[in-house]
Amino acid sequence: MKDNIALIGFMGSGKSTIGRVLAKFLDMKFVDIDRLIAAREKKTIPEIFAEKGEAYFRKLERDIVYEESLENNIVIATGGGVIIDNENIKALRETSYVVYLDCTIDCIYDRVKNSKTRPLLNVENMYDKIKDLHSKREILYKISADYTVKIDKSSNMYDTAEKIKQAYIYGNNLLTWTNYTGYDPELSGGVLTPGKDSSKYPRKREFGFGFNIGF
Ligand code: S3P
Repeated sequence: MKDNIALIGFMGSGKSTIGRVLAKFLDMKFVDIDRLIAAREKKTIPEIFAEKGEAYFRKLERDIVYEESLENNIVIATGGGVIIDNENIKALRETSYVVYLDCTIDCIYDRVKNSKTRPLLNVENMYDKIKDLHSKREILYKISADYTVKIDKSSNMYDTAEKIKQAYIYGNNLLTWTNYTGYDPELSGGVLTPGKDSSKYPRKREFGFGFNIGF
């Protein structure tokens, strides 16, 4: 059983808001990677980007994602760019059920258009920038996720959190059982039992793909 849940998705897709609700529903601790980065540096995210640059931010992000992936029973809200570094995805997928919040472009734009806290969107034509970045990143969100939940302007955070909770409880079991590679007489009946902890069984590493794209 992967006992963490990591939420991935574009800026403004609701990772922090839904993450908090989900953590309450499942009685798990909630952590937000951007908040941890800001706390460690004692600076805001825009300050880190302006004073130290994006590469510095990405290094901090990688370190903190790795540290948090070693925790147990936590819901992790990641930053929208977490998927551009395959080290992050490897670390998260090792211990976390990864959920993609697949939010429509219009919904993203609506939520971020007045925000000044996202340096990458601090540009003349924010809508076009979102569309462009989203089209480059979309494939990475999709292939990194164990489960994808669709979000649009009519979505409600409680319903979305409930969907993720169900997927985590049932889907996560299926996933880890499917990855079982050894033999155990207990399993030979072929009955999948939702809720059963399969962590004691050997698991193969799920994948390791080699991208590290700078966008
Ligand atoms: C980023 C997303 C931000 C933050 C930073 C970079 C990105 O987080 O990590 O500004 O590259 O998409 P949110 O997704 O929480 O806005």
